[in-house]
Amino acid sequence: MEILHTPAALRAWRRSDPGSAGFVPTMGYLHEGHLTLARRSLAENARTAVSIFVNPTQFGPNEDFTRYPRDEERDLRLLREAGVHAVYFPTPATMYPEGYQTYVTVDGVSRGLEGDARPGHFRGVATVVLKLFNACEPTRAYFGRKDAQQLRVLRRMTIDLDLPIEIVPCDIVREADGLAMSSRNVYLTPEQRAAAPVIYRALRAARDRWSAGERDASALRELVAARIQAEPLAAIDYISLADDDTLEEIEGRAVRPALLSLVVKFGATRLLDNIELD
Ligand code: PAJ
Repeated sequence: MEILHTPAALRAWRRSDPGSAGFVPTMGYLHEGHLTLARRSLAENARTAVSIFVNPTQFGPNEDFTRYPRDEERDLRLLREAGVHAVYFPTPATMYPEGYQTYVTVDGVSRGLEGDARPGHFRGVATVVLKLFNACEPTRAYFGRKDAQQLRVLRRMTIDLDLPIEIVPCDIVREADGLAMSSRNVYLTPEQRAAAPVIYRALRAARDRWSAGERDASALRELVAARIQAEPLAAIDYISLADDDTLEEIEGRAVRPALLSLVVKFGATRLLDNIELD
């Protein structure tokens, strides 16, 4: 497994073999969700590169950038065991040297939901992912459906900027009790961790109602809210039922596939999850 630190080194690695390359961008502190993306990429491409970079430009001033969990050694071991061919480990100074001024803004789909809750977040995500794409020149890039809005923002960017890269969405990987895997789950106290599966139970209850024919957006949002409010440690940040494609909030009845997404806070920790209704 090659460990690369600069865009030039990653590009040289990419150009050393004309076969297909899969790419999995991450912020590290890897879990089974990340590894599932990597394994899918390994199965579908001649070679796979994974990047590990806690990207400062996608964190707000009062967010957890400095305390975001990191464990380089463990991450490298897991990737080596998985059979990944290259790991890209840039530093903030390499990505954003003195004088850096260029940012990518995706309109429309960056608004609402996480875009409203975290101003500037998707500008940071789109910027870093375009930079990573430019260095890696992948055939395919793998992203989790867990970050549903991020996936749509990056799909839009790829189409709008004519990038010759296939964006591959991957299903959410969950713990046995239903909690979506996330590097941030380590922030939870044991009590919060025990309560957190209420999120997926609430999402599934809404999906059951949808399957039974319920299409009233307020009724579906309220069903989820009531389930979550029954858990004293949980505080709802937002619950959204939006058009699956445009992410515009649905008023009245849903007539097309919808994305039910939410953020629930346990103490200071924001847990993001969603379920697709179609
Ligand atoms: P990170 O949160 O490390 O996630 C990296 C990738 O793993 C993302 O595509 C994310 O959706 C996916 N992922 C995370 N948890 C998952 C789960 N439980 N099941 C399936 N996939 C999961 O997302 C980022 O990093 C960053 O914003 C990044 C795209 C790397 C840009 O900095």
